[in-house]
Amino acid sequence: MKVHKPYVIYEEGDHSFIWLGLDESDREKGVLTNQYLIRDGDRGALLDAGGYFVFERVLNSVQEFVKPENVDLLLYSHQDPDVVGALNLWVDMLPNVKIYVSELWERFLPHLGYDLGESINDLPDQGARIPFGKSYIEAVPAHFLHSPGNFHYYDPVSKVYFSGDMGAAIFPKDKWYLIVENFEEHAKLMEGFHRRYIPCKRAIEKWLTRIQDMDIQIIAPQHGSVFTGENVRKFLDWLMKLDRVGLELL
Ligand SMILES: [Fe+2]
Ligand SMILES: [Fe+2]
Repeated sequence: MKVHKPYVIYEEGDHSFIWLGLDESDREKGVLTNQYLIRDGDRGALLDAGGYFVFERVLNSVQEFVKPENVDLLLYSHQDPDVVGALNLWVDMLPNVKIYVSELWERFLPHLGYDLGESINDLPDQGARIPFGKSYIEAVPAHFLHSPGNFHYYDPVSKVYFSGDMGAAIFPKDKWYLIVENFEEHAKLMEGFHRRYIPCKRAIEKWLTRIQDMDIQIIAPQHGSVFTGENVRKFLDWLMKLDRVGLELL
């Protein structure tokens, strides 16, 4: 069993972007997932908090940095079980949290068995700036990548872009690393996922156009490894060139 401690990806002053650790033995239960915390002073925003069996680890990791009552935001990219599966546990644990998810999925979440009442906020298709700490977090539309109501989250302070399932890599047994070093080797672990789960190339192209002028220093996906330095550009170029995606494979 290899358990990895949280890792601070970015920190300046009282603002940080934190990866919340991993237990490699989880891959026997389900696909490995990354969770992240944006911290501003004593406030926290949690990104794709994850499924049931990672809840305890993620909660413990969050508490190393902020108090549960100071977690203001629970931001969801989409509706998959590896993203929202522990929602019921989180709402019990985070008394002041506001949840954000696409307006397409808000009406589906009560099926998890919880009346979310006032704490849930719909994100309109065009996205939103969500106030957080002394700044904000940008909910960036990324529809059909892969979910039809899908958002990424950009932190303009750290310039880290949380890309949800975009950039997902599926590791073989006994392989895992947090930061991409050899992009060409890493791309082999991403290819199958992107071809099968992303429905069409047009969705990728629209998104690449949307983000092209954003100042993105780091891309942090929900599965796989983090892109830093020149690998940010390499990843986006790789996506631009990726052919035979989704429906084209039928
Ligand atoms: Fe997904
Ligand atoms: Fe996912």
